Amino acid sequence: MSEGSRIPGFYKLGLAERRKVISDRAHVDLAELEHALEAGGLDTATADKVVENVLGIYGLPFGVALNVRVNNTDRLVPMVVEEPSVIAAASNAARMIRQSGGFRAEVVESLMIGQVQITDVEHPADAVARLEAAAPRLLELATKAVPNLVARGGGPRAIDVRDLGQRCIVLHVLVDCRDAMGANLVNTIAEALGPITAEIAGGTLGLRILSNLCDRRRVHATCRVHARELVSSPRSSKSAERAESEGELDGLEVVDAIVSASRFAELDPYRAATHNKGIMNGIDAVVLATGNDFRAVEAGAHAYAARSGHYAPLAVWRRDGEDLVGQLELPLSLGIVGGTLRVHPTARLALKILGVTSADELAMVAASVGLASNLSALRALATEGIQRGHMSLHARSVASAAGALGDEVELVAARIAGAGLITVESAERALAQLRHGR
Ligand code: MEV
Repeated sequence: MSEGSRIPGFYKLGLAERRKVISDRAHVDLAELEHALEAGGLDTATADKVVENVLGIYGLPFGVALNVRVNNTDRLVPMVVEEPSVIAAASNAARMIRQSGGFRAEVVESLMIGQVQITDVEHPADAVARLEAAAPRLLELATKAVPNLVARGGGPRAIDVRDLGQRCIVLHVLVDCRDAMGANLVNTIAEALGPITAEIAGGTLGLRILSNLCDRRRVHATCRVHARELVSSPRSSKSAERAESEGELDGLEVVDAIVSASRFAELDPYRAATHNKGIMNGIDAVVLATGNDFRAVEAGAHAYAARSGHYAPLAVWRRDGEDLVGQLELPLSLGIVGGTLRVHPTARLALKILGVTSADELAMVAASVGLASNLSALRALATEGIQRGHMSLHARSVASAAGALGDEVELVAARIAGAGLITVESAERALAQLRHGR
């Protein structure tokens, strides 16, 4: 097994050393990596051309998740996120999962949906039949609208028409966008089809836009973890009695507790929303790092979660013998060409570090990290609770906010986390004591 994404002790290295290790492992030039990361990659002059009324640049931490192995390939996974513990949690769960071979993932279909709305349709059933019969002509027109996509092997693939009631029908055009996220391509096609669709349907042309519920571009990821990986200190290194007296669960009890947490989310939309937020912690961070549209991904994920009319978890967990098995499925429209990637060197760097060669590969890695994030959250919630791990990592940012520098950050964080008082005031006191040698 390649050890490409397994770097024990990485978090203990200084920032410069971490950059060097990643540049070596990912075969990315160190100077390029430093340049893309130093000021967040984007200068104000470029930002001024990207959106409107620009005043400056807003920075976020860029880290890397370790231990991720997807379909037998190790991946160093760039993540951009402001929440402490998200990257550590994903790396930690991925380490447990790689003991059983890592994640298996596949892209179920790879088609985006463009919608054309037609209103005031006199006889909707007849209009649907006429549009279905005209599908070859409509596809030909759609193909002519995106010659460059067709040259890259993509293009419109099918037409689907539905009667929505109230004299409104919608035509879907399904498009293979290859390695692009595809919003512009799909919108171009939908606009090209609009007038002829209205004419054939005998109605009034309405909206022409992609759907973010891209359920024909879904990714499925699964993983398996043995019960022994789920306990923090293996029973062999600690006596069973001592572990029990400290109230620790054994591995199989942790498996059952995680399955019970999954069932809770399956039964209750209030819990499912938080369960899915834990999944999106991982996915959004990869989506952001790679310059993709996280609003589109979020909209698609939650619409898919609610597709049955009951808001449900995107990932579920079951026991199989002594293993815990997780399954995640969601729509994911990501690109590795065009969009933000044209202007953002850090997003391009993220793709280089990842080493993905297609949008499908990126989607499979992002989904795997989502599953890892979910496992980590459920394991913590089902055992010691989320706050202990969360707070000790949160303590580091509080220590920084109190003015701790360099090595002081870890020392102050350890003091305030140990005292169970993680506030800026207690960090300032701990820092003053440290500096006065107390
Ligand atoms: C916090 O960012 C995410 C969790 O709330 C997810 C969950 O509850 O499963 C810990």
